[in-house]
Amino acid sequence: MVIPFLENQTTVVEFVLRGFSSIRPLNIFLFVVFFLFYIVSISGNTLIVFLVLFNHHLHIPMYFFLMNLSFLEIWYTSNDVPKMLLIIIAEHKTISVAGCLTQFYFFGSLAATECLLLTVMSYDRYLAICRPLLYPIHMTGSLCIMLAASSWLCSFLLTAITTVLMCRLSFCGANEINHFFCDFTPLINLSCMDTSLTETIAFATSSAVTLVPFLLITISYSCILAAILKIPSGTGRRKAFSTCSSHLTVVTVFYGTLIVTYLVPSASSSQLLRKGFSLLYTILTPVVNPIIYSLRNKDIHKALKKCLSKKSSLLR
Ligand SMILES: *[C@@H]1O[C@H](CO)[C@@H](O)[C@H](O)[C@H]1NC(C)=O
Repeated sequence: MVIPFLENQTTVVEFVLRGFSSIRPLNIFLFVVFFLFYIVSISGNTLIVFLVLFNHHLHIPMYFFLMNLSFLEIWYTSNDVPKMLLIIIAEHKTISVAGCLTQFYFFGSLAATECLLLTVMSYDRYLAICRPLLYPIHMTGSLCIMLAASSWLCSFLLTAITTVLMCRLSFCGANEINHFFCDFTPLINLSCMDTSLTETIAFATSSAVTLVPFLLITISYSCILAAILKIPSGTGRRKAFSTCSSHLTVVTVFYGTLIVTYLVPSASSSQLLRKGFSLLYTILTPVVNPIIYSLRNKDIHKALKKCLSKKSSLLR
């Protein structure tokens, strides 16, 4: 699509998000399904935050980071899903340009924070398993807070660069976004200016927060695996592995969906496929984290049981 720089081009003040389809019954079905996923993700993540906050035996670095990740995922889904639900059922599927850029900013920043927090968590597991003597000296409360805070700070600062560049683009002519939230590619496709600088910067920053963490996580887990395989007893091996298996599952799901979303559709360049895959990381990943931890992690199990028994004794 080539849009010439005409003076009388109307400037776009709002975008139309096309959503999924125009078939009413299908939309109602999608609304119900996504709404349920949203409820599960919000309640599951809130539960994890409260369990960790109010259980003293969970006040260790691993669960501090887990709590922070759950806290993040509450914001992450709430940035996209409520608007998406509205778009699905509303007649006017519009969002203002400022609203769209704001949504993109928070979406990008929170996704980047998730990458960095997952990396910090794998570093924590690496120290605990491969450097057990150093671990209590090194992983102090202040380091935990510093690592978490810098994950948030870096992500919000880096994404700000891309967002500022996007704010300087002008949008004119076509204003329909063939997507259900304001993601980078559909938005950039609508600009009638040269977007190469913005795209280059976006590529560089998103690589910095996805590829580098991915590499660090892979290195951490290679060391962890090597260390675990060296443990002579089977029970010792299982015990060491159980402390990081939940996190490894979450990392695999998160990076799996990220890779599938960004690599597969660019090969086939199908809009529908891209939309479908985007659902994985907006709807699915925030649900996966609490489910994995509440199903598989023994400490969270214990905390949950304690909390439930307290409640039933209160009722009695
Ligand atoms: C997560 O970490 C950030 C930065 O340290 C902090 O501002 C936020 O309050 C933390 N959230 C929770 C629930 O611990």
